[in-house]
Amino acid sequence: MKSFKNKVAVITGAGSGIGRAIAYQLAKEGASLALTDINEDGLKETVAKSETLGAKVFSKKSNVSILEDVQSFIADSLQNFGYIDMIFNNAGIALGKKTLLELTYPEWEKIMGVNLWGVIYGSKEALPHLMKRPEAAVINISSVFGIAGIPEQLPYCTTKFAVRGFTESLRAEMEGSSVEVYCVHPGGINTNIAEDALKDAGDDVKKRKEVESFKKMLAHSPERAANVILTAVKKKNYKILIGEEAYLFDWMTRAMPQNYTKLINWGMNKILS
Ligand SMILES: NC(=O)c1ccc[n+]([C@@H]2O[C@H](COP(=O)([O-])OP(=O)(O)OC[C@H]3O[C@@H](n4cnc5c(N)ncnc54)[C@H](O)[C@@H]3O)[C@@H](O)[C@H]2O)c1
Repeated sequence: MKSFKNKVAVITGAGSGIGRAIAYQLAKEGASLALTDINEDGLKETVAKSETLGAKVFSKKSNVSILEDVQSFIADSLQNFGYIDMIFNNAGIALGKKTLLELTYPEWEKIMGVNLWGVIYGSKEALPHLMKRPEAAVINISSVFGIAGIPEQLPYCTTKFAVRGFTESLRAEMEGSSVEVYCVHPGGINTNIAEDALKDAGDDVKKRKEVESFKKMLAHSPERAANVILTAVKKKNYKILIGEEAYLFDWMTRAMPQNYTKLINWGMNKILS
């Protein structure tokens, strides 16, 4: 997609972080925006600034893990703009550090609902409308944790590996059509996402300390992430890595598939101590 001017972009999780930064950059580049988030206050803030940046904006609160919410948000976006050219399936949550034995099934279901079903619903509901456009794109946000397995992050890694599988399969399915399909693997981006993990840690002092150490690794700004993503979409780079650590993890899993987890455990222990 050479230019975003006059394109209509749907963004989920637009009330904060990477989704918000994508909205602002697209607004500056002349796109119209259909924005959604479960957090109404965050969404309002993004809408107001996007409008001051010159964008036409439609917004609606919705929960991406509920199919009816996604269907009615897409339908209302189409009603408002007449068409959509891009969807950024960006909404996501993290859990705190927990082993498989500590994790409960409701915790698994919650993260699968947002991080995986949210991406499936958004992609499937938008696709028939994207296919009508001369050029269109699905941009799904996975993670560096969708490339490498990480201890005590099983649900997050499971959803982000699944987003990668879903997205790369959809890319193959859409080859030869007007719909481009991108998978994004950010490294550590300085957003509100670690707050989810902190909430999860509750009063557990050790876990809170670990999350605080982890937060320090979120080194890149959401604006940088948005810029890398949108530049890659213009260049048709379908696998989008953000940050040096994303390149390192990607290389490590290919160079030492048998042993990279040992290196990750060693690195995590060093960081957390
Ligand atoms: N921050 C990082 O280091 C990092 C790294 C890799 C991948 N990611 C991914 O990037 C994406 C954006 O995260 P972020 O870092 O900007 O976090 P963030 O917490 O700043 O933003 C996520 C947004 O998603 C919204 N959201 C959460 N659950 C939702 C739901 N059920 N329905 C609708 N909206 C919902 C939140 O309200 C929030 O506004 C996520 O998919 C995340 O997994 C982030």
